[in-house]
Amino acid sequence: MTLSATKTERIAELRDCVAEIVDLSQAAAVLGWDQETMMPPKGADFRATQQATLHGVIHERLTAPRLGELLAELEEPTAQQELSPVDQAIVRVIRRDYDRTTKLPASLVRELALATTRGVESWRRARRESRWETFAPDLRRIVELKRHEAACIGFQDVAYDALLDQFEPGATTAQLRSLFSALRAETVALLGLIDRAPRRLSRAILEQPYDPAKQRQFGELILRQMGFDFDAGREDVSAHPFTTSFGPTDVRITTRYDDHDLGVALYATIHEGGHALYDQGIPLELARTGLGECASLGIHESQSRLWENIIGRSLPFWTFALPRLRELFPTQLEGVTPEGMVEAVNRVARSLIRVEADEVTYNLHIILRFEIEWRLIGGEVNVDDLPSLWNQMMEQYVGVTPPNDALGVLQDTHWASGLFGYFPTYTLGNLYAAQLWMRIRQEIPEVEAQLAAGQFQSVLRWLRDRIHRHGRMLTPAQLIEQATGEPLNPAYLVGYLNQKYRALYGLA
Ligand code: CO
Repeated sequence: MTLSATKTERIAELRDCVAEIVDLSQAAAVLGWDQETMMPPKGADFRATQQATLHGVIHERLTAPRLGELLAELEEPTAQQELSPVDQAIVRVIRRDYDRTTKLPASLVRELALATTRGVESWRRARRESRWETFAPDLRRIVELKRHEAACIGFQDVAYDALLDQFEPGATTAQLRSLFSALRAETVALLGLIDRAPRRLSRAILEQPYDPAKQRQFGELILRQMGFDFDAGREDVSAHPFTTSFGPTDVRITTRYDDHDLGVALYATIHEGGHALYDQGIPLELARTGLGECASLGIHESQSRLWENIIGRSLPFWTFALPRLRELFPTQLEGVTPEGMVEAVNRVARSLIRVEADEVTYNLHIILRFEIEWRLIGGEVNVDDLPSLWNQMMEQYVGVTPPNDALGVLQDTHWASGLFGYFPTYTLGNLYAAQLWMRIRQEIPEVEAQLAAGQFQSVLRWLRDRIHRHGRMLTPAQLIEQATGEPLNPAYLVGYLNQKYRALYGLA
């Protein structure tokens, strides 16, 4: 059957509309990258109006009635039969984006933008002063608006599902509660064992003077080894490391340097490098179609965590990397063995700050936030309850009590930015990564020997084939099941953590 003339025209028109929306979004991303890396301080006001104008145009394009007409025509069963699988997928994902956007009244979008701009401002002050009341009124307003947003989008079970779905399509609160409670119980048990372990680990090797210029040189060497294409990307410096893509042939990452801690820049670089390999691995034919994006934030995070933690904190990695690093820092690393590096970069400590947490306790920080935020959006918990609830849960989950709110409930910017539903994607990333790694080891039995020899290509090839090349063609659940042969299963992360840390801490 050949595609009828009108359907050919319709899908071409849809693709043109989408291509322009993608162009506009990526242009906004360039401005955002510049703001974090290059822009002088006085540029902020003009940048804010430029971004507001650009996002207004994007919103207009994404809610245009013509886009709705095209989608409706192309969704008719006769039209669907004639479309290629890629074109069907374009119609599916653009419908999703179109519905999410058109369901929100323009007034709500404006109010949210205003409330979160104010919220980020007052949150900064509140954290500096460690004074919750400075932020609480703005957060109350943001939560109210987010509840309204969830109601507009619609949900079956709990309001939080509507917000979660934006970052992790298909995920539900009920599913995460069950995954996370299994993970939490196992993690708390493992931490108890580590407390009583016969061995202590030390980070002392990492906490020495390390020249940032040489750190940068080493980071680039590792990025090249991973397969990062410097002709299709670059690395710069920013206060908070991030990755942004202007298309698969221009992917930007950032890092930050601490001249007295080797771990900061190195692991930020490997983490963002993992994100970047995903973005560089999107096929060119999916670019500018709406499919040239990640399947979800959780899947994106699985790529960064797999490289950062599972590979970058392993013995095979340090067997390869230590001699290269020692050439740059012969004094600091005199007499250090690969095993010594592995111990230093994997020390477990019950601590207050999420972004500084180790691989074992990290998920507890996330589960705490998830347990608070789904109840907050659902109205079971109020903004005024947060500081005491936070401290009580930190004691219960992580085993530490914040001495003040700056080191507690005020530490992250996500809620001030209105990003409810974002936190769980970090732990989903860890869960996906462990399951992908299990499958990689099964299919490439020699993978650890390859890594120890500095051969990282087979891992990248596997990830390109199973994850990167699909862009947004598949849902996260489909992607994981297709890549590993089974649905997401927390047993893989639990098994990985137990095996690794029992060995490191000399536990049976
Ligand atoms: Co990340």
